[in-house]
Amino acid sequence: MDSPQAVHLGPRKKRPRQMGSSGGSMPHDIRFRDLVLFILEKKMGTTRRAFLMELARRKGFRVENELSDSVTHIVAENNSASDVLEWLQLQNLRASSELQLLDISWLIDCMGAGKPVEMAGRHQLVVRRNSSLSPVSGSQSVPVPAVQKISQYACQRRTTLNNYNQLFTDAFDILAENDEFRENEGSCVAFMRAASVLKALPFPIISMKDTEGVPCLGDKVKSIIEGIIEDGESSEVKAVLNDERYKSFKLFTSVFGVGLKTAEKWFRMGFRTLSKIKSDKSLKFTHMQKAGFLYYEDLVSCVNRAEAEAVSVLVKEAVVTFLPDALVTMTGGFRRGKMTGHDVDFLITSPEATEDEEQQLLHKVTDFWRQQGLLLYCDLIESTFEKFKLPSRKVDALDHFQKCFLILKLHHGRVRGGEHGRVRGGEQSSQQEGKGWKAIRVDLVMCPYECRAFALLGWTGSRQFERDLRRYATHERKMMLDNHALYDKTKRVFLEAESEEDIFAHLGLDYIEPQERNA
Ligand code: CTP
Ligand code: MN
Ligand code: MN
Repeated sequence: MDSPQAVHLGPRKKRPRQMGSSGGSMPHDIRFRDLVLFILEKKMGTTRRAFLMELARRKGFRVENELSDSVTHIVAENNSASDVLEWLQLQNLRASSELQLLDISWLIDCMGAGKPVEMAGRHQLVVRRNSSLSPVSGSQSVPVPAVQKISQYACQRRTTLNNYNQLFTDAFDILAENDEFRENEGSCVAFMRAASVLKALPFPIISMKDTEGVPCLGDKVKSIIEGIIEDGESSEVKAVLNDERYKSFKLFTSVFGVGLKTAEKWFRMGFRTLSKIKSDKSLKFTHMQKAGFLYYEDLVSCVNRAEAEAVSVLVKEAVVTFLPDALVTMTGGFRRGKMTGHDVDFLITSPEATEDEEQQLLHKVTDFWRQQGLLLYCDLIESTFEKFKLPSRKVDALDHFQKCFLILKLHHGRVRGGEHGRVRGGEQSSQQEGKGWKAIRVDLVMCPYECRAFALLGWTGSRQFERDLRRYATHERKMMLDNHALYDKTKRVFLEAESEEDIFAHLGLDYIEPQERNA
């Protein structure tokens, strides 16, 4: 990688690069209006200051480019209180008693918490001499994050939704997606693993030193991290976001039923917009794609938790009508604690049902909804499950359970707060305006009772967590895991499980809660 930074470092003096307001980056909403931050450039440097300012703004903090009377919090690094006071005097601004002088460690804690944290003693600036040379004393500045050995496997990390490194993980998610569109599998996996490991870090990366000891960060990945630290954004990501192919694939695959193959075809044919595709008479669409276009606005708007809960009630009501002892569990992203998702996933199983009753349930449930006019789309796939079949070797293999991919009509009246909390997109077609319902993607999976723990683990995700569970089983335990079973190749036995905990225990792994599987 070239280093464009060097170009700017010459004679330019004292003009902090302005980010967020007039720079290239996006304006951010201010969430914490009581605080007005100013980050001191002294002993910190322009690029690091710009980076920290961008980070704080992304989290909803108001950060001023210039010092003014409105500033309430001054954040400094490697400066003592007297250093800052001295500097303030030079700016002809006297420190009022309300003005807080804080060490960078406070800002870092705020970034971690995603909101202003209380100002503890260790955050307050104190008079300190020769800070860089003196050994660490009580109130040192930057906390050195204890990087315990981080595993290369997501199933040995706890990844909550509290992502300290979104600035980086957003970048790698985009780069991975671009490689997926280009079918560069190796590079795609490398970026996905990098994003995943950064999501699990218990601290934000603010300098390259923080990446030491973190696995899954190759040279390419590190150079991108470095670029983001220096410039606040990545030139590679910018290029991808402006790339015709990426933009088209992203748009086309946002339609339910459109995969890479179709996106590729449309792109090659020269299409760049959905409206041109929709109105083209020569194109043939699958049933799935027709539904995808028909309910496009609803489906791209994502499902929120209130809607997911309402769907859950709908599913449970229908299921118990036909199989009173059935267990229905919401899986996927919502089980991991996410507040939104592209669909709602459910696993259904019954301890008492006969094979026949089990096979009939999804048919009965979908017929029931069809009669009520709630079934907007239904693709029911019969089971190809066989007992004692060895688990699949592929990390991304599809499972063999009976399942259906649906689009359901969810009436606003069924959603808690639904009549009020509705947001209507500006360009919503008039035909669907005020229709009183929303189209929601729903996945239902029916599994034999003995498989329920494996199916639950497999359908809870995240995809990266699942991939790494299988990779770990294969490479570290000589076992084979999929959504149906776990097989020990050394002992040549299938290992039974009543719960997800049992499966982790068989694999010799610490149990990871669903909320910690957001890898
Ligand atoms: N899954 C699977 N087989 C499929 C589809 C999905 O095993 N044919 C699993 C995946 O491991 C995934 C989980 O089911 O982690 C849920 O899939 P999906 O709904 O695509 O992802 P979510 O994590 O729920 O994300 P979102 O919120 O976008 O729906
Ligand atoms: Mn899902
Ligand atoms: Mn799904």
